[in-house]
Amino acid sequence: MINFGIYIHWPFCRSKCPYCDFVSLPAKNFDFDAWKKAYAQSLKFYAGQTADKTVTSLFFGGGTPSLMSTDLVSFVIETIRSFWTVAPDAEISMEVNPCSVDREKMIRLKQIGINRLSVGVQSLNDKSLKFLGRLHTTEQALTVLKEARTIFPRLSADFIYALPGQSLNDWQNELQAVLELNLKHLSLYQLTIEEGTFFYKKGIQPAEEELAADMFELTDRLTYQAGTERYEVSNHAAAGHECRHNLLYWHGGEWIGIGPAAHGRFTKKQQFYATAQSNISSQWLQSQTHEEIVLTPKEKAQELIFMGLRTREGIDRAAFLAQIGQPPETFMHAGTLQDYQTDGFLICDSKGIRTTAKGLMILNALCRTLLK
Ligand SMILES: C[S@@+](CC[C@H](N)C(=O)[O-])C[C@H]1O[C@@H](n2cnc3c(N)ncnc32)[C@H](O)[C@@H]1O
Ligand code: SF4
Repeated sequence: MINFGIYIHWPFCRSKCPYCDFVSLPAKNFDFDAWKKAYAQSLKFYAGQTADKTVTSLFFGGGTPSLMSTDLVSFVIETIRSFWTVAPDAEISMEVNPCSVDREKMIRLKQIGINRLSVGVQSLNDKSLKFLGRLHTTEQALTVLKEARTIFPRLSADFIYALPGQSLNDWQNELQAVLELNLKHLSLYQLTIEEGTFFYKKGIQPAEEELAADMFELTDRLTYQAGTERYEVSNHAAAGHECRHNLLYWHGGEWIGIGPAAHGRFTKKQQFYATAQSNISSQWLQSQTHEEIVLTPKEKAQELIFMGLRTREGIDRAAFLAQIGQPPETFMHAGTLQDYQTDGFLICDSKGIRTTAKGLMILNALCRTLLK
């Protein structure tokens, strides 16, 4: 069975974190009926084009989808079930913020079909949480994690490191505390200062390159020793706990994206489509405005390479050939590829092409110079 996912974007949060450039607006009151109508209309539209596919993963992201009413979440899942066949073992994930979820809500989410939770913890240090503009304390986040693990066998948590003033030793201590939680999946992000965010306007500087690289290497080593190996730039999991939906993006799978700012990639009449929903929430709510383009084989190949190099598995040669009809090297500068191999940034063999830990640290520059 070919994997096919559905991403649902919920664009609201309790408040806007100063580092975040996701499409999310602070809000308190929601017209859930209007959102039901909009999601249903968009799902119906895409079901008309993809209903022959079997849904293998569903992902509620945001924003803070734990602010959705469980009635709305249930409505979306049931609407999807009415349009598509959903695989019996489909992964159904939701991102939650410790401020907007409690035991009762988690039990209800499990009952209506959510089977994987990703909790935005960000830090186990109250001072850092305050700096990051989070509305919860470490204790509140830990309580949510403690409850969540009794309800969801598949559980993840997000953390941000390389904060201004954080030393290698500070991060080592915090990471050790994170690993003691014994979670089977961790998303560990280096703080990036994104244009347009409050941090950007305030002139907050990212960590020095060398310190950030040391932190990355330390993260790689300690997570590996703890049995949660890196499987993508910022994602670590025990075997079998990888997020199947995210793997779909990184391995060139197909999915539709519903909700403001959501993107999709899927085949229709032998052509590969890229879709983008309007990132203006009010506009999307009213008319589900979106754009759609056909990707050329070269664009599709470049995406496959860019995404594949993010992962531990890398670009699978056989899968690439099956999708594109040519080997990955066709789209790369031969001399640059050779240099990156010689210098230990890339491994290229009969299985495919993958980045080493050293290569991951310069991934963007590597892709920029490698691709034709
Ligand atoms: C959609 S949010 C997760 C759920 C929820 N909104 C929350 O924050 O609790 C996705 C994750 O991206 C990470 N993130 C967002 N902006 C970031 C930035 N500028 N630098 C590093 N990590 C960032 C955070 O770890 C965040 O939890
Ligand atoms: S990090 Fe999460 S809670 Fe904070 S603004 Fe971004 S999406 Fe919202």
